[in-house]
Amino acid sequence: MNVLILGSGGREHAFALKVRESSLCSNVYVAPGNSGTALIANNLNIGVNEFSKIESAIKEYDISVLIVGPEAPLVNGIRDRIRSNDTNNNLIIVGPGKEGAMLEGSKDFTKSFLFRHNIPTANYSTFTKQNIEKGFKYIDKMPSPYVLKADGLAAGKGVLIIKNKKEAKQQLKEILINSKFGKAGNKVVIEEFLDGIEISCFVLTDGNQYKILPSAKDYKRIGENDTGLNTGGMGAVSPPPFLNKKLKSKIELNIIKPTIQGLKKDNIPFVGFIFFGLIIVKEDPKVIEYNVRMGDPETEVVFPRIKSDFLELIIALDSGNLNSFDLQIDNEPAATIVLVSGGYPEKYEINKQIFGLENISKTDSYVFHAGAKIENKVLKTSGGRVLAITSKAKSIDLALKKSYDSIKQVQFNKMYYRKDIGFDL
Ligand code: AMP
Ligand code: GLY
Repeated sequence: MNVLILGSGGREHAFALKVRESSLCSNVYVAPGNSGTALIANNLNIGVNEFSKIESAIKEYDISVLIVGPEAPLVNGIRDRIRSNDTNNNLIIVGPGKEGAMLEGSKDFTKSFLFRHNIPTANYSTFTKQNIEKGFKYIDKMPSPYVLKADGLAAGKGVLIIKNKKEAKQQLKEILINSKFGKAGNKVVIEEFLDGIEISCFVLTDGNQYKILPSAKDYKRIGENDTGLNTGGMGAVSPPPFLNKKLKSKIELNIIKPTIQGLKKDNIPFVGFIFFGLIIVKEDPKVIEYNVRMGDPETEVVFPRIKSDFLELIIALDSGNLNSFDLQIDNEPAATIVLVSGGYPEKYEINKQIFGLENISKTDSYVFHAGAKIENKVLKTSGGRVLAITSKAKSIDLALKKSYDSIKQVQFNKMYYRKDIGFDL
């Protein structure tokens, strides 16, 4: 089978590695990919939103499976587009259509979905330019901190958590009146602040059956002790050690099952990954967000723990056999540390030469490339998050130690990483 993966991050490098391990795999293509995917697959110079070029590549390279990494092409309707033009229904597309992608593409849609299907989540109300005064009154009645969410996709920057009431009202105005987040902020969800520990859970589903993948804990803040600005993710561990049997069954019963049933009741077809962003409040899981894709850097700890043949899993997904698929997971935990360009998630420089990756032993750590490229045979930085260094070991502590030891080999100008991933566990 020939497989095409869309995206260019550490997530897509981890997908490519897993796909390549499959006994059913012939060729792996990644569009556009990065310096890491270039080592193990064929990169295609096509952007994730260049639908015509993607359709041509599917024909040219005789692709049987398309795995969509990031959310943007899903929200933009890549699945519907390919299905409407392609008479070849044998192509397996891992990723939902436009309607299903609304679970990530619109916070307002998601909140009403959650309430309609009695899935635990924070209380909320949605406001527009027309009723902003009501929004101010809503804030007046709420306790601090205030959680403001732009309705649409805002490159991960659309959620504001603000302590000061005056500032919260000011920001509501910035989003609704001054279009701080452009069209994504035409509506704003204001919701109750939930206090608890976060966990990322993942399923692969055909909209009817589902398979639960390993869970992870992501470290989103740039600074140690979870301080400073939010990032795409600075590190992750899998499984989260606090995920005991009782919590697992609550998550499946109260959240995963009603989500799949809710999609069915609403007649929303869904084939792909669902990423449940949860907060555990006094032992009860609540949904903060859905994503219609895998997480990054979560994939870099979840995928190395999957022992089963990944393309066999995809065939089970396509043929309605997910329930009977015996998914084998490695008992050893995994930890990843993300190396970023100094200044990220604000302004940072790129084109810094990366040294030392060859000194990392393959038996110790996986090196997943993200914002990295090869230029004139030289490996250089090309983004904010540059590399994710993942290790597996008998315990999370040992896995973290292995990754931190491997990082000692790596260098680039203004390299930064958190030295406290797992500090709270
Ligand atoms: P999101 O972009 O929806 O993932 O939100 C970004 C981050 O904001 C989440 O990972 C949480 O840490 C935080 N967050 C979002 N909603 C809430 C909430 N209702 N209460 C507390 N924290 C939240
Ligand atoms: N690491 C969080 C995300 O992928 O959205």
